[in-house]
Amino acid sequence: MRIWSIANQKGGVGKTTSVVALGGLLAEQGKRVLLVDLDPHGSLTSYFRQNPDNLERSLYHLFFEQRYKDKAFIQTVIKPTSLPNVSLLPATTSLATLERQVSGQDGMGLVLARSLAQLWDEYDYALLDTPPILGVLLVNALAACQRLVIPTQTEHLAMKGLERMIHTLKMVMRSQNRNLPFMIVPTLFDRRTLASVTTLKEMRRLYQDSLWQEAIPVDTRLRDASHEGVFPHQMDEQGRGVRAYRHLLSELDVADPGRG
Ligand SMILES: Nc1ncnc2c1ncn2[C@@H]1O[C@H](COP(=O)(O)OP(=O)(O)O)[C@@H](O)[C@H]1O
Ligand SMILES: [Mg+2]
Repeated sequence: MRIWSIANQKGGVGKTTSVVALGGLLAEQGKRVLLVDLDPHGSLTSYFRQNPDNLERSLYHLFFEQRYKDKAFIQTVIKPTSLPNVSLLPATTSLATLERQVSGQDGMGLVLARSLAQLWDEYDYALLDTPPILGVLLVNALAACQRLVIPTQTEHLAMKGLERMIHTLKMVMRSQNRNLPFMIVPTLFDRRTLASVTTLKEMRRLYQDSLWQEAIPVDTRLRDASHEGVFPHQMDEQGRGVRAYRHLLSELDVADPGRG
């Protein structure tokens, strides 16, 4: 199983959208995909018409009830999506209280990694949608994944936050003795605006090595898909956004150290 985290401490930059778009495109290639919602807001969970306020079981229970090595239990938490090849490990809003409840307990940084290890043969890919705060959930995602995707809005302020965030991520990785490859993905790119164009140029200057050379454009069809609760490629197979995500996927797959 290949495990990728989609992370950025800023909200509204396209993390959840990227998880859904990439997950759908992997399924289109016949891959078995697990999408994991680590965000207490539960946007990914809501995307698939599950209610993060009243689901009986979620990722939360893997932590709180310490059932993360119980494969049969984990499977009862997992929900279907609108594609047979794609499943969802949902979030509930109770995840927001996790920090306080488990802080200081041993092994809490490895709960997700251990759960996913139970599912190793069930899925080809797991895509982790992460919360915007540095806490036990993001730490879990970083410990579990083999690669990091950082969607970044092509807007001046978003790029300014990027430096600080990469610094934080590196700090966490160092504490875990890990060095994950990461790829910065420019998102919400609008070539008609000067702000987008100059920011993208600046990103290319500053982050050559770890920057995806293309960008995900603004495409209202992505918003429509989320509104309808369908995967973007189901809504518009050749839409601009979907085509860009297809390019991104092939780039990520090629660059994946776990490939082969
Ligand atoms: N490329 C895009 N073009 C147009 N709208 C987008 C695009 N990417 C995301 N959106 C919309 O922007 C909002 C925030 O995106 P989302 O993926 O939820 O960000 P995050 O998970 O980082 O908070 C959502 O309404 C989503 O539909
Ligand atoms: Mg989100």
